[in-house]
Parts: sequence; C-alpha cells; structure tokens
Amino acid sequence: MAEKRNETGRLAPPRHIAVIMDGNGRWAQKRGLPRTAGHKAGAETFRKIATYCKNIGVKYLTVYAFSTENWSRSEAEVSAIMALLKKYLLEAVDTMERDHIRLHFFGDMTPIAPELRALARETDEITEHLSRDDFQANVCLNYGGRDEIVRAARRFAADCAAGRRKPEELDEAAFSDYLDSRGVPDPDLIIRPSGELRLSNFLLWQCAYAEFYYTDTHWPDFDEAEMDRAIAAYHARDRRFGGVKQP
Ligand code: FPP
Repeated sequence: MAEKRNETGRLAPPRHIAVIMDGNGRWAQKRGLPRTAGHKAGAETFRKIATYCKNIGVKYLTVYAFSTENWSRSEAEVSAIMALLKKYLLEAVDTMERDHIRLHFFGDMTPIAPELRALARETDEITEHLSRDDFQANVCLNYGGRDEIVRAARRFAADCAAGRRKPEELDEAAFSDYLDSRGVPDPDLIIRPSGELRLSNFLLWQCAYAEFYYTDTHWPDFDEAEMDRAIAAYHARDRRFGGVKQP
C-alpha cells in the first residue's frame, strides 16, 4: 500500500500532484454562461487548490492550463485564458515571495505574447530566490507531452552536434534533464476531473508510474473535500513500480 503517515499521524500527501483542469466549458454551459466564465471560475479553483496543496504539505502541483492543441479554440476564448494567466502572474509577482510559492512554466513559450513571457521571466527570477523546499506550482502553458519530448530530443541532438554531449551518454536520467520538468520529480498522482478518461498529451514521459484519479466533478466545482478523496484513493493503491509486493 502507498499508505504513509507523517509525524502528526495524518496520511502524508503525495509529493507531486498533477491536474488536468477539465470541464470549465461544460460548467459554464450548464449555467447558461459563456465558456470564458468557466475559465474564470477554473482559475479561482486553481488558487484555492494550490493553497490547499501547499497547506497540507504537497511539494509540487502541476496544472494543464493551455495545451499545444488549445490554439484551435476561438480567438476570444484563447484571449480570455491568456488574460486570466496574466492576472494570476501579476498577483504572483507581488505575493509569491511572501507566501513562499515557487512558480515554474512547462511548455514552449515562443508563441506566447511578449508581455506574458516577460511576466513569466519575472516570476522565474523570484522563484530562483526562494528555497527549493518551498511549495512549487508548475503551470503547463502551450504544453504538449509529445512536443516537450521532441524539443528535448532536439536540444540533446544540438549538444551532440556542438560536441558537448555524446549519443552514448543518453540514458533516462540524462534525457529527463532536457525536459521542461528537469529537477522536478515525476507526479505521484494525476487527477482528471469532468469525467473524461484520457491523458490528452499531458506529462507523457513523467506519468510512467503515476496513479490516476478520475472524477465527474467539473474543475470549477473541485474543492478541498474532492482533493482529500483523490489523496485517499491514492493511499489505497498498491504502488509496486514494476516490482512485487513485499510480504
Ligand atoms: C479545460 O476545460 C480548461 C482549459 C483549456 C483552460 C484552463 C485555464 C484556466 C483555468 C485559466 C488560467 C489558469 C491559471 C493557472 C490561472 P475545457 O474548456 O476543455 O472544458 P470543457 O471540456 O467542458 O469544454
């Protein structure tokens, strides 16, 4: 069993939880609201759940905010999501040092608007000054698991071409260092709200031994009690990492 208790007797939370923040659109539609209202509510849920994760001792929370495929949505919806991210980053610049929250981005930032990229650089700099022991939120922006692997392979190939690396030096650990997630341990638990049972190009390399939790709750309705249920389900799993159960 994955069940482990910490010094207070509480079940120790997973070190790294990753969430596909799904169902914002359906949540809004059910209420006769525009899809963008669902994303606004989803951004609030992210704030609430990040605070909860930090308070219960989760070390990393990774969220899927915008995929490489999400550009196919209407311009109004894409702009609304980018505006919510900008608002969050502006707040973060003022609060992350005080609250000891590290912030990091996974994804190809090249096509992201210069203003948002500059803010991301600013939050990266603040993160550099925070302790590695502080809670870290990873926001996946223009992220796709396949794209991340291809970009990593390209960077490794470029290092080989420049004589900095040799092909035979490549192993799983060396390759992990070329991924957006370098330095971040693999997720222990991946949560997908809103009833869909698929991974949608999320953390393809990193999810090798992750446990999965699915719920019908739409992301804007996801709350602390739902997170507790996901963590309880995680603790009930028997994680063997390809080995056999110890007697
Ligand atoms: C998926 O639901 C959600 C998204 C593609 C956008 C998520 C973005 C945010 C919550 C806003 C900003 C994030 C942060 C970190 C501040 P969907 O629209 O696919 O839902 P549906 O399947 O019901 O249509």
